[in-house]
Order: sequence, then C-alpha cells, then structure tokens
Amino acid sequence: MAANNHVKFLYVWLSFSISSVFNTTLAQSDNYIVHMDLSAMPKAFSGQQSWYLATLSSLSANLVAKTNAAIASSKLLYSYNHVVHGFSASLTPEELEALKKAPGYVSSIRDRTITVDTTHSYKFLGLNYDSGAWPVSDFGKDVIIGVIDTGVWPESESFNDGGMSDVPSRWKGKCESGTQFNSSLCNKKLIGARYFNKAIAGNPTLNISTNSARDTDGHGTHTSTTAAGNYVKDASYFGYAMGTARGMAPGARVAIYKALWNEGRANSIGASSDIMAAIDKAITDGCDVLSMSLGLEEVELYEDPIAIATFAAIQKNIFVSTSAGNGGPDVETVHNGTPWVLTVAAGAMDRELGATMSFGSNSVHGMALYPRNFSSTQLPIVFMDSCDSTVELRKVVDKIVVCQAPGDDEDSLEDQFNTVKSAGNVAGVFITNKSEVDVFNHAPFPIPSVFLGQKDGDILVKYIKSNNDPKASIGFKKTFLGIKPSPTVASYTSRGPSYSCPSVLKPDVMAPGDLVLAAWPSNIDVNGGNEDLNSNFNLLSGTSMACPHVSGIAALVKVAHPDWSPAAIRSALMTTSDVNDNTGKPIKDVGRQLRPADPLAMGAGHVNPNKALDPGLIYDATVKDYLNLLCALNFTEAQIKTITKSSSIDCSSPSMDLNYPSFIAVFRDINAIGKPNLTTVREFTRTVTNVAEGSFTYKATVTPIKGLKVTVQPNVLVFKGKNDKKSFKLSIKGPRQLDEAVSFGYLTWEDGGKHVVKSPIVATSYIIEK
Ligand SMILES: *[C@@H]1O[C@H](CO)[C@@H](O)[C@H](O)[C@H]1NC(C)=O
Ligand SMILES: *[C@@H]1O[C@H](CO)[C@@H](O)[C@H](O)[C@H]1NC(C)=O
Ligand SMILES: *[C@@H]1O[C@H](CO)[C@@H](O)[C@H](O)[C@H]1NC(C)=O
Ligand SMILES: *[C@@H]1O[C@H](CO)[C@@H](O)[C@H](O)[C@H]1NC(C)=O
Ligand SMILES: *[C@@H]1O[C@H](CO)[C@@H](O)[C@H](O)[C@H]1NC(C)=O
Ligand SMILES: *[C@@H]1O[C@H](CO)[C@@H](O)[C@H](O)[C@H]1NC(C)=O
Repeated sequence: MAANNHVKFLYVWLSFSISSVFNTTLAQSDNYIVHMDLSAMPKAFSGQQSWYLATLSSLSANLVAKTNAAIASSKLLYSYNHVVHGFSASLTPEELEALKKAPGYVSSIRDRTITVDTTHSYKFLGLNYDSGAWPVSDFGKDVIIGVIDTGVWPESESFNDGGMSDVPSRWKGKCESGTQFNSSLCNKKLIGARYFNKAIAGNPTLNISTNSARDTDGHGTHTSTTAAGNYVKDASYFGYAMGTARGMAPGARVAIYKALWNEGRANSIGASSDIMAAIDKAITDGCDVLSMSLGLEEVELYEDPIAIATFAAIQKNIFVSTSAGNGGPDVETVHNGTPWVLTVAAGAMDRELGATMSFGSNSVHGMALYPRNFSSTQLPIVFMDSCDSTVELRKVVDKIVVCQAPGDDEDSLEDQFNTVKSAGNVAGVFITNKSEVDVFNHAPFPIPSVFLGQKDGDILVKYIKSNNDPKASIGFKKTFLGIKPSPTVASYTSRGPSYSCPSVLKPDVMAPGDLVLAAWPSNIDVNGGNEDLNSNFNLLSGTSMACPHVSGIAALVKVAHPDWSPAAIRSALMTTSDVNDNTGKPIKDVGRQLRPADPLAMGAGHVNPNKALDPGLIYDATVKDYLNLLCALNFTEAQIKTITKSSSIDCSSPSMDLNYPSFIAVFRDINAIGKPNLTTVREFTRTVTNVAEGSFTYKATVTPIKGLKVTVQPNVLVFKGKNDKKSFKLSIKGPRQLDEAVSFGYLTWEDGGKHVVKSPIVATSYIIEK
C-alpha cells in the first residue's frame, strides 16, 4: 500500500497518531513525564521547578552536589504548570527507580512519539451571512482557538487580519521568533506562534532544521485555517473547489503551538512531553478552544498525555476538540475516547471534484483531480478491458484508454492506474464503484485520469463499442455540488467503542473530512513531493480535517453562550446534529457498503451549527462528575491523581453514570449464549437543563430497537424556566447476550415547537480486550 506515488494520501489521511515508543534517546535514557504531589513539596523551595531540580539532583548520590545541579538541569525538559503537577526529564532506568522512592512522586509515563495521522464545507453545514450561527455569534468574534499541530505558514492570505479589532487584552501568548520566523509575522488574526521540541530534540535521528513555529509540513496551516481562516477570494486547488475560502469561525483568533516536526520525513512526528508542554502554554496564554488533530492508540486515560493534559484545560473551561483517528472501518479503533473532550469523526460533503466527458451526444461526469492543463479537443478513445498489458496500452498511446476490471476487483484499480501511467497514454478512464476519497487514496493524479461510476462507465463503453471511430473530450477542474446522498460516513474514520473508556459512546459527532480545501504553504509540494506542484490551497482528507471544523463551530457557540461549560457546548453540538442525509434517509456509511451508519461510526450525527446555538436542553457535566467516573472505573489513587492533579481524591460518590448526551450499554454474557430468554436491564440516569428562555414541556420518544425494550421514566419533563433541571431514567431491557454486534436507536426530547434534543442509544456485544 505504501508505494511511493501514494505518499500523499497515506500521509493525508493518517491523522497524527502514536506509532511507537520513543526509544532512541542518548545513553539508554528515556524521556519520562513525572507526576508529583505538590502538597509534598517542602516549604523551603521557592517554587516547583527548584523542587523538581533538587529531586533530580538527588538521584545520583555518588556525584558531587555541584555537578549534580548541572546534570539535573540538563535532564529537565519541561516543568509544567497546568497539565501536569510535575515535569518531564530524560532518565536512565536506575534514575527512574530512584525517583520512584523520592518524596512526592505519584507516577510516571514514558514519552511516546506521535506521527502523522473549504470553500464549500461552510455552506454544506448551513452557515450563511444573514441568519443563524454566523451573525448570531459575530462569526466567532474574539474567541481564541489554539491549534496544536505542525506549525503555521504565516504568509497565507487566510491569516490576513482585515477588519479585525485589536488583540483582546486578556491574551498572554507570544509570537516567538526562530528559524525563518520573525515575531512580526503575527497579526490580529494569527495572534500567537510557539514551538516545542525539547523532547524530540534528544532524538539523534532527527535534525531540527527549522527551529521555529514555521510549518514545514502543511498540516497545521490547513487545520488552523479550516477552524478560523479569514476570507480569501478565488481560492482553489488548481481550479477545483473554486470559491471564497474561509474557516468555520472567520472572526476568531488563531494561536499556533507547533509540537509536531517534519524534518524531512514524509510524516511529522512529535513527543508527548512536547505536546503536553504546548497544551500547558495554550492554557496559560488564554486560549478558549483547543483543536488537536492527533491522538494515541490504545492507551489508558491515566497514560494518555492528551487525556491528562486536556483535563487541566477543562478545569479552566477550555473547550477541546480532537480527531477520532483514521483507523476505520474496523471497530474499536477510535482514539481520544476521553470523556471530557469532543471526539470528531469524518464524513464526505455533497461536493465532488472531477471532470466532464463528452462523447457522441452524451455527457457524463466522473471524479478527477488532475491539476495540470489538458487539451479540450476530441481525442480517440478505446476500451482496453482491465488494462493489464503495458505492451497493448503502448499501441494506443495517443488514445484515451478506458479500463474496467472484470467483476468487482477492489485492488485492481491501483494496478490499472499504474499500468496506464507507465504506458504513457494520453489519458486514462477508470470505471469503479469506489467513493471519491477511496479512489484518490489508491491513485493520485500524475496522469490525466477520470474515475467513472459503473452506470456512466457502461454508457461510455457502449458508445465506444458501437462506433467505428469513437472520440471523447475531457474537461478537468470541475466542481459538482448537490451530490446525493450526503453526508456519508468516510470509511477511514475510526469507530468505537473507545479503548480507554468504553462506557462513554465515542466518537461524538461527525464533520466534513473528505477533500477539504484549506490554506497550504506555497513552498511545499501539494502532493508530498511527488508532483512538484505548488499552491496556496490544498485538498486533504482525514479526521484531522473534521476536527478543526468543529473547533471553529464550538467557537461560534462560545460567543453566543459565553457562560456554557465545555460539556454544555459538546451537548449542544451532539443533540442537534443531523442523522439524516440530503435525501431524508439515515446517513449511510461508506465503510459498511452504504448501510445506515451507526453511532459507533458517526456519534450523535453530522454537526449542525445553526441548530447548536439553540439546543433547548443540555446535558451538563462538571469536573467533579468526571472524577466520580474515574473513581467508578476503579483506577488507583495515583492513577486518578495523575489525571486530576489534586492532592487528595474524594471518591465517596463513584458513578459510571456520567451525564453524557449519549448512551452505550454492553449486553455480553457468554454463559447466556443459546439462552435467548435470559434477560437483563441496563439503566442510566441523566439530568437535563433548560437553556432556553421560558417554560417548556418536553416529551420523550424512543425509536424502536429490535430485540430491546427501552423505557424512559418520566417520559414528560416540565421546565418552569431557564436553567431549570430535570432528571430521568432510561432503561434498556435486553438479552444477556446480544445477537447483533451493534443495535441502535435514538432518544428524542421534543417541546412540540422548535427544540428537538436527540441522543443516540447503542447496545453492543463488543467488549474491549485489553
Ligand atoms: C523582523 O522583521 C522586521 C520587518 O521586516 C525587521 O525590521 C526586524 O528586524 C525583524 N526582526 C528580527 C528579530 O529578525
Ligand atoms: C543531521 O545533520 C548533520 C549535520 O548537518 C548531518 O551530519 C547528519 O547526517 C544529519 N542527520 C540526519 C538524521 O539527517
Ligand atoms: C494552465 O494554463 C493557464 C492559462 O494558460 C496558466 O496560467 C497555468 O499556469 C497553467 N497551469 C499549469 C499547471 O501549467
Ligand atoms: C460495481 O458494482 C456492480 C454491482 O454490484 C457490479 O456489477 C460491478 O461489476 C461493479 N463494478 C466494478 C468496476 O467493480
Ligand atoms: C469496580 O469494582 C467494583 C467492586 O469490585 C465492581 O463491582 C465494578 O464492576 C468495577 N468496575 C469496573 C468498571 O471495573
Ligand atoms: C422463550 O420465550 C418465548 C416467548 O416468551 C417462549 O415461546 C419460549 O418457549 C421460551 N423459550 C424457552 C427456552 O424458555
């Protein structure tokens, strides 16, 4: 799969994700993130950092004190303020063992490496100038979105600060100078730029050549402008997706925290202690929203640096949006299954990029991304079956060749493409059932190529076979809108249940992730070094692209409701999202042969910014609620302290019943296999808050779920006024062992007027094997 000419799309759709443990530091030292109990700090120390340094000096008792101090400061990477009570340091195994006996030591985790995982999406999401979320929120005015990523290309037109007021005085961030990065490059749109590489700099296989926040990859420029880019007219990818580009919250400010490093690699990498330092600074600086298109696979919450660091962000009321990962369509692949963040899945929009083909009296269109200029004249065209012979293809080198593998051979598309490419035919037409992103993952576009669906392919082949001198013309660089059905769930988007907390349904919502157009550094090849083509905008796909859409939308909600907690904003985004597509049918899943998508793939549904501003009811949650969940998960005191950073833990009211706007219940009892009459009941208690002005009566309805009986008690809730809270119990009665892997439905509270508050209900027989 990783053949060289496919680098672009492999790279594009990996959101950043952890691959392997950081094991290449010097002298058998490894980097560790060390959690300390601040209440154990002797009063004699002037501050945390001096205590950490003293602790590190004490680890090598056989050296003289003065040398120890020097060694200690060279070992210390970061001293954290918010995300960790503690520090990161480079330690030998002996030093780590000694540290574990030091006063105040709570726990430590080894550093890990993290590698690399539009003009239209705003319209598709229903955003417009005259009504709804944009005018109500003043386009996200003054919300500060911190983006942890590969840095920024500040010269991008998307960072123009035209029409923006002065930077809010509460902003404490900085525009750091560095290699090819001058602090005067920031402005009223891009208000901060910092970089973090103390941990990764210890890796001898890397040379940090661009030691600054400058983006040498492109990913960070793309994600940050997707969230909050300013207006840029006539943006396109070589004519595709042409229009005025802007982010979801064009009035918001952007601060970039570069913690992922490219350094000549195809995929950027980062170390978790650098990423934690970036989040730490973003909290200190005063960011309101954090956008993180990165994550770690299969780690416990108390070992997940992003989960740990974002707990501190939530404590400061900062909203955190993360990507679900690109491990789909397999189940149990979702990362960032953290109960206190928002986890975003990716889908496709109602837009197709492509080409029009004209032949005889017909005109069809197919998918295409060929970026160069192509003759518009009629050219001879020939059908070559599966295009498996270079020799035969070379005989018709000046003709357009049409290829179709017999049957439904999924893998042969790539072979056909490569054979045509090596034969050098003037253009190739490939008949395929694949979806847009799947096509472009298999075959980027160094040759003029069109991908036709079966129906249009049949028309073309029939025309060729019934003509003596068949000819066709191809018009590239076309953008087709209104594609049905859409949205669809992308096959690559990672699926739940979540490894780290399977009792909370993840992902949370879906947003556009396929072929998103956003800003790109003009000095970086748009196709991973394969095309030698440059553009100020690029098309990328992945949950990395979906996440910043929702970061921007969260900024809009925050302006409209400045007093809402991160959980309230998440609830509003989830309960108002759409579960039907633009044909009025349930959203379909490209990764499941277009069957209706389940909530383990798309969460509560496709995010709907206009409705999110007025959700009616919210499911709120406090930091204490998250703590009660951690207690119920039976984590040890040290594990919980690692996450919460508190000196003492109050686990007097443990509860698995986090007040979450979705429900997931496991029906798995292998002893009950073959005994379908053995039943069990799963119960959830939830509290909803009326956030609209006035009194309302809400009634509950539950979509029928085959084989399960779902009841809601009470099923009518009367709210006397704003901020009134009411509780209810949802029970699912079902077999002890569910036949299906996943059954699902929805609970809906309706006030008979405009508020529809919808939550997904999943019953599953999956359990996470650890
Ligand atoms: C940054 O750029 C400005 C304007 O080009 C220049 O005057 C200044 O000296 C530069 N500063 C640094 C630190 O290079
Ligand atoms: C890093 O840079 C040095 C000096 O330029 C060079 O000798 C070395 O090969 C480089 N290492 C890598 C991994 O690129
Ligand atoms: C295509 O043609 C246009 C107009 O002649 C030209 O400006 C553009 O640079 C060409 N594009 C490429 C990729 O060669
Ligand atoms: C597309 O799907 C149809 C129906 O399943 C099948 O007959 C056809 O062979 C497929 N075409 C390709 C190119 O795989
Ligand atoms: C936690 O421990 C209690 C008591 O042993 C047990 O009943 C419960 O199932 C455990 N919870 C989890 C999530 O493992
Ligand atoms: C299971 O329940 C069904 C319907 O209630 C009943 O007809 C059937 O006899 C029961 N089977 C067993 C094995 O008890």
